[in-house]
Amino acid sequence: MTDQSSNQMWGGRFAAGPDAIMEAINASIGYDQRMAAQDIAGSRAHAAMLAATGVITDNDAEAIREGLLTVLSEIEGGTFQFSTALEDIHMNVEARLKEVIGEPAGRLHTGRSRNDQVATDFKLWVRDQLDAAESGLLALINALLTQAEAGADWVMPGFTHLQTAQPVTWGHHMMAYVEMFGRDLSRVRDARARMNESPLGAAALAGTSFPIDRDMTAKALGFDRPAANSLDAVSDRDFALEFLSTASICAVHLSRFAEELVIWSSAQFRFVTLSDRFSTGSSIMPQKKNPDAAELIRAKVGRIFGANTALMIVMKGLPLAYSKDMQEDKEQVFDAADNWMLALAAMEGMVKDMTANRESLAAAAGSGFSTATDLADWLVRVLKVPFRDAHHVTGTLVAMAESRGCDLPDLSLEDMQGVHAGITEDIFTVLGVENSVNSRMSYGGTAPAQVRAQVARWKEMLT
Ligand code: ARG
Repeated sequence: MTDQSSNQMWGGRFAAGPDAIMEAINASIGYDQRMAAQDIAGSRAHAAMLAATGVITDNDAEAIREGLLTVLSEIEGGTFQFSTALEDIHMNVEARLKEVIGEPAGRLHTGRSRNDQVATDFKLWVRDQLDAAESGLLALINALLTQAEAGADWVMPGFTHLQTAQPVTWGHHMMAYVEMFGRDLSRVRDARARMNESPLGAAALAGTSFPIDRDMTAKALGFDRPAANSLDAVSDRDFALEFLSTASICAVHLSRFAEELVIWSSAQFRFVTLSDRFSTGSSIMPQKKNPDAAELIRAKVGRIFGANTALMIVMKGLPLAYSKDMQEDKEQVFDAADNWMLALAAMEGMVKDMTANRESLAAAAGSGFSTATDLADWLVRVLKVPFRDAHHVTGTLVAMAESRGCDLPDLSLEDMQGVHAGITEDIFTVLGVENSVNSRMSYGGTAPAQVRAQVARWKEMLT
C-alpha cells in the first residue's frame, strides 16, 4: 500500500508526499490547463492506436474515449476541479478519467510518457497559434492593401533619418509594410511546416517496446509524420523558439509601424486621423486624443522578445533528453502568443479605421526641399552635368531658398541661372511632387503605377 499522501501516479516508490514548497515549484497546472483540449486529443489518438495495434482491448479504448469526452466537457464547462497536487494537465486529466471510468484509465499511459505527451500537446498548441497568426497577418495585409489602393497616388514626404528625403506615395508606404508582414506570413508558414512532426510514441526518451503505430497517431493529430528520433522528439523546443522568434520579428515590424502612427497622428504631423474606436482621451486635457493602441503595440515587442530570450536561455546547455527546466517553456509562449495575436488584431483595426489626411500629406510632401534630388537628376539628364557637380549646384540652390525662407519652386529662373547658366524653364516641371513621384517608375519605385502593380500582385497572390 502506498502512503495516502504520496502521489497516486508514482506512489509506489514514495513513502511521503511532497513538501508544500516542492508542490508549488513543481506544479504547472496553473497555466498548462490551457493545453487541455490538445492533451485530450493526444490521448484519444493514443488510445485508438493502442486498440488498433492490440495493445489494449477495443472495450477499454471505447471506455477511454467516452471518458475523455466527459472530462473535456467538464473542463470546457468550467466544472472540472484542477488540483495542484496532480501537478500538470496530463495527470489532472488522467486522474479524473480514472474517477469517471475506473480501471481502463490505467491502461491509457501504456507505451507513452509525459515527456512525449507534453511535447505533443505543446506542439499542437503552438501549431494552432501559428494558424491564428496566419489569419491575423492576412487580415492586416488586406487592410493595408485597401489603404494602399485608395491612396496609390497620394503624395507624402518620404524620410530618411526622419528628415524629409524625397516625395513618396501613401500607397507605397503602406505597401512597404505589406512586404514586411508578407515575410512574417511566410516565416509563420515555414515554421508550421517544419514543426509538424509528431513526438507521440517517443515515450520517455528511448521509444517503447510496445508495438505502437506512430504513423497512425501522427496522422490522427494532423502531423505530417512521426519525429524520427525519440531523444530529439522529447527534448527539443525549437518549434517554440521558432514561434517566438517569428513573433519577435513580426513584433518589430508592428512596433515600427505603430511608432509611425504615433508620430503621424500628432498635431504637428496630422498625416493620419485614428478612429475614436482605437484612441483614448485624457482625463484632464480635453483636447487630447491619444494613440494608446499604437503605443501598446509598440511596447508589445518587449515582452514578446523577452519570452524569446527567456526560452533561449532555458534551453541553452540542457543535456538530452527531457529536463524539468523545459516546463518553463509554456508561460513564455502563452504570453507571447496572446500578445502577438492581440497586437495583430489591434493593428488591423487601426489600419482599417484610420483616415489619411491627403491635404496634410501633400503639403508636407512639398516642403523640406523634397524635390532637390529631382533637380539634380534634371541637371544630369538634360545638361549632362556629372552627378557630383549637379549635387553641388542643387545644394547651393537649396541654401539660397532656405535663406529666403521659400521652397525650390519659388526661386526664379534668374536665381537658378545665377548658379548654373544652363538651367532653363523646363526645370520647373520636375520640381513638383506629383511629377517627382510619377517619374519614379523603376521596379519597386514609388510611382503610382508601380504601387498599383504591387497591389495587384499581392491580391493575386492572396487569392
Ligand atoms: N509538466 C511537465 C512539463 O511541462 C510535463 C512533463 C513531465 N515529465 C517529467 N519527466 N517530469 O514539462
